[in-house]
Formats: sequence, C-alpha cells, structure tokens
Amino acid sequence: MPANLSELRAAARAAREHAYAPYSTFAVGAAVETTDGRRFSGANVENASYGLTICAERTAVFAAVLAGARRLAAVAVSGPDGTTTTPCGACRQVLAEFGAPDVPLTYARADGGWSDTTLGELLPVAFDAAALETARGIA
Ligand code: THU
Repeated sequence: MPANLSELRAAARAAREHAYAPYSTFAVGAAVETTDGRRFSGANVENASYGLTICAERTAVFAAVLAGARRLAAVAVSGPDGTTTTPCGACRQVLAEFGAPDVPLTYARADGGWSDTTLGELLPVAFDAAALETARGIA
C-alpha cells in the first residue's frame, strides 16, 4: 500500500510541538511510515552539551526500530514555519540503514509547500551493510 504522504506531513508538523530545542529554538518534527503500515513521530532533543543533540529524523527512526518496525516506507520532515528543512548528513546515513533508495521523503519548504525526494537522492552511493558483508568474505 503506498504511503499516505499528506497524513505523514501532518504528523511531522504536529511532532514539532514535542521538540526540546531551547538552545537553537529550531523545532523540527519528523514522521516515518514503516512497511507494516505503522507511523512513528520524532522531534529534535537538544542538550546543554550541544553535540549530544539528536535530530527529529533519528528519534522517529529509533522509535520505529524500538517498536519492531525496521523498514521505512516514507519519511516526512518539517522545520519551523518559513524554513526549508532537509535531513542533515548524519540523519541521511541513519535513514539509509532502514530505507531503500527509492523510499520517498517529503520536506517542508520555506514557502509553505512541500518538496518530494527519495532517500537515494539525498544520499547516493550510501555506505551500507553490504560493504561489511563483503569484508567478512575477504577476511
Ligand atoms: N535538526 C533536526 O532535528 N533535523 C534536521 O533535519 C536539521 C536539524 C535539529 C538539530 C538541532 O536541534 C536544530 O535542528 C538546529 O540544528
């Protein structure tokens, strides 16, 4: 069943309410739909030790994994109104771990609209488990 992107977008927007972003004040919400049809939300959680901050995308993915859902079907990301927010590099790598290159990702634009891309477009030639498997075969 194809993912319902408009519901996923609404979930990402709503998840911003749960962001803990006192330092940047840049609240981000994310929502992932998994291949079993479930939906999980996430928001960024910052820390006084800034580098410990975790992004919205990763909290959503980790919520899915903890609930036993490991395959992504679609992803939505929404930053503060008036911004265009795309996943950071670290999040692209984590999304690639659990989603195929053709998985759609939709992100909110500064003009209030949404742009659609895929995990493969965001992180081409991703490092993945296949490389590790190959190395095991060599050793
Ligand atoms: N952030 C996210 O949660 N997701 C993104 O896609 C970009 C950045 C967060 C991290 C930090 O809490 C704040 O936005 C500013 O970088």
